[in-house]
Amino acid sequence: MNYIGSKKSLLNFLETSIYQVVKEKHFTFLDLFAGTGAVGQHFKKLGNKVIANDLQYYSYVLNKNYIENHAHLEFKSLCGEIDRLEGSLIEMRAADVCKYLDDIEGTEGFIYNNYCLEGTKDQEHARQYYSDANGKKADAIRQKIEDWKRQGLINDNEYFFLLATLIENLDKVANTASVYGAFLKKLKQSAQKPLQMIPANFVLNNAEHQVFNENIEALIEKVQGDVMYLDPPYNHRQYAPNYHLLETIAKYDNPTIKGKTGLRDYSNQKSNFSIKKQVLNSFENIISKAKVKYIFLSYNNEGLMSVEDVERIMSKRGKYGLFTQEYSRFKADKDTNRDHKASSVMEYLHYVVCD
Ligand SMILES: C[S@@+](CC[C@H](N)C(=O)[O-])C[C@H]1O[C@@H](n2cnc3c(N)ncnc32)[C@H](O)[C@@H]1O
Repeated sequence: MNYIGSKKSLLNFLETSIYQVVKEKHFTFLDLFAGTGAVGQHFKKLGNKVIANDLQYYSYVLNKNYIENHAHLEFKSLCGEIDRLEGSLIEMRAADVCKYLDDIEGTEGFIYNNYCLEGTKDQEHARQYYSDANGKKADAIRQKIEDWKRQGLINDNEYFFLLATLIENLDKVANTASVYGAFLKKLKQSAQKPLQMIPANFVLNNAEHQVFNENIEALIEKVQGDVMYLDPPYNHRQYAPNYHLLETIAKYDNPTIKGKTGLRDYSNQKSNFSIKKQVLNSFENIISKAKVKYIFLSYNNEGLMSVEDVERIMSKRGKYGLFTQEYSRFKADKDTNRDHKASSVMEYLHYVVCD
């Protein structure tokens, strides 16, 4: 998923830098601003136990799948419902269930009625976040997943795998420039393609992992491990309004929505890390309370905290150091990007080896 601040293209830099500092071969890795789960997944693949967290529920769903799921899903209780599952190899079952959901007939539900052109045409705000067909299909699949869960036909692992699959694939056909703060007037080419349930595959391994959906400031005292990786927002852009539709698909809670973009309330999901007046206090709070041996922080040279502030705060825990790498900027939209001065930014990886 194309996500603000995603570290997908920086994984090599993170891996080489972190292994230069950390002496242990395997460790418990805390990814507490997990977003898409790309970093946690990478360190899971390297054989580590991962604890992931994020304030957003869609991120929790993605991480429940990519991080916590670590063995093939059998979908045993769906055998009565889906013929082709009977006798199918365990490794094929997740794909078989996705195929079944792919063939489901669309229905006019919350997404279609609030975020598709046909469904909103007589309302104060007509919206076109998805094609009509994709909106209906998303509603039908989302409702089916919830029905199966309610009837006890799928377990939590299977539930989060299916939800993550829906979120990932629905994001691919969204009619936006990238984030959900606005939709495009005309259906762009990728949004005209039919929604397809391509399985959201996860790394198989033997370790037990854990995923939380909390504010890091509340969670920090409840978790412990060896290496804590922090990747907070860098600027004033809050994630909740930019990804409100992913949140609604993940929760499917019929929220009250408002305005041109159909925004849900996010007053309890505002991050202090995106508020200039709060960020230093909150950062110092988590750094001082972390129960870990090493702390790493990704940040860039245009963030709300200065390099000096970060160094001052992290140095209080032990021996401080810094890695840097040039990195090309996240492009939400080529046109709105014109305000930015540089086309690449300096990415910093600060660290402290705790005393
Ligand atoms: C820069 S992104 C992380 C990107 C991630 N490393 C990746 O590669 O996808 C920052 C994340 O922090 C989350 N976040 C912001 N404030 C938070 C808080 N106080 N507690 C927990 N998560 C928070 C946001 O929801 C967002 O997903």
